[in-house]
Amino acid sequence: MEKPPPGHYIVAIDGVSGSGKSSTAKTVAARLGILHLDTGAMYRAVTFLALEKGFSPVQTVEIADMVEGLDWHADAKGKLTVDGRDLSGNIRTSAVTAAVSDYARIPEVRHALVPVQRRIGMRQPAVVEGRDMATVVFPDARFKFFMDASPEVRAERRVRELVSMNLPGDYAEVLKNLSERDSKDSGREHSPLVLAPDAEVIDTSGLTFEGQVAIIVDHVLKSLPSLTK
Ligand code: DC
Repeated sequence: MEKPPPGHYIVAIDGVSGSGKSSTAKTVAARLGILHLDTGAMYRAVTFLALEKGFSPVQTVEIADMVEGLDWHADAKGKLTVDGRDLSGNIRTSAVTAAVSDYARIPEVRHALVPVQRRIGMRQPAVVEGRDMATVVFPDARFKFFMDASPEVRAERRVRELVSMNLPGDYAEVLKNLSERDSKDSGREHSPLVLAPDAEVIDTSGLTFEGQVAIIVDHVLKSLPSLTK
C-alpha cells in the first residue's frame, strides 16, 4: 500500500444497507473537512455500466475487462467520475439497486476496485464507507465504525430517500430487497460484510441523525491531537 502523507488518517465506516452510513459518512467528512469516499457508489457505477452494456453477472470475462479499463477520479471532496462521467444520477435506480449485489460479489470486480479505493483514500485524510473498509481495504484504519439498524427502520429510511429523489418507493418491496441484499452481502465468498473485531458498533435504530454523526466526530476529534504529534 502507498505510504500516506504525515497526519493522514482513515475513518472506516462499514455497515448494512440503509443503516444511514452514506449520509452519516458524508456529514462526518464535511465536519472534519476531509474526503468522503462512497465505495458502494463505485460498485453501483460498475453495475450501471455492466447493465448499460447488457452484461449479465455471469459474463465475468467481459465485466473484468470493462472494470480493468475504467478510469476513476475523485475530486477534493470525493465526488467520483468514471471515464469522465458523473454517474451519481444513474446509480440509485431500483434496477441498479436490485442487481448490485450480484456484480459486487464478482472477485474480478473487487480485485479491480480495491486498489483504486486505496489510492484515493491514502492521498489525504478520508472517511471511507462500504462493507469491507475496516476488514479488507483499510485494515489499519485509525478509526473503525460499524453501523447497524433494524430492517424496518432501514426500509422506512430508504423509502423516504427514494421519494425525495422522485423515485418510486414501495415499503414492502424495499424491505424485501434490503433483506436479500443483506444475505447476499454477508454470505458471499469474497470480502463479505463482517464486523471488524476492533470496530465500534453504532446501532442507529433509536438515534437521531445528529446523534450518530456526533458519536463519530467526537470520537475522532478527541483522538486527533495524538495523531499529529
Ligand atoms: O452502500 P450501498 O447500498 O450503496 O452499496 C451498494 C452495494 O455494493 C451493496 O449491495 C453492497 C456492495 N458493496 C460492497 O460489496 N462493498 C463495498 N465496499 C461497498 C458496497
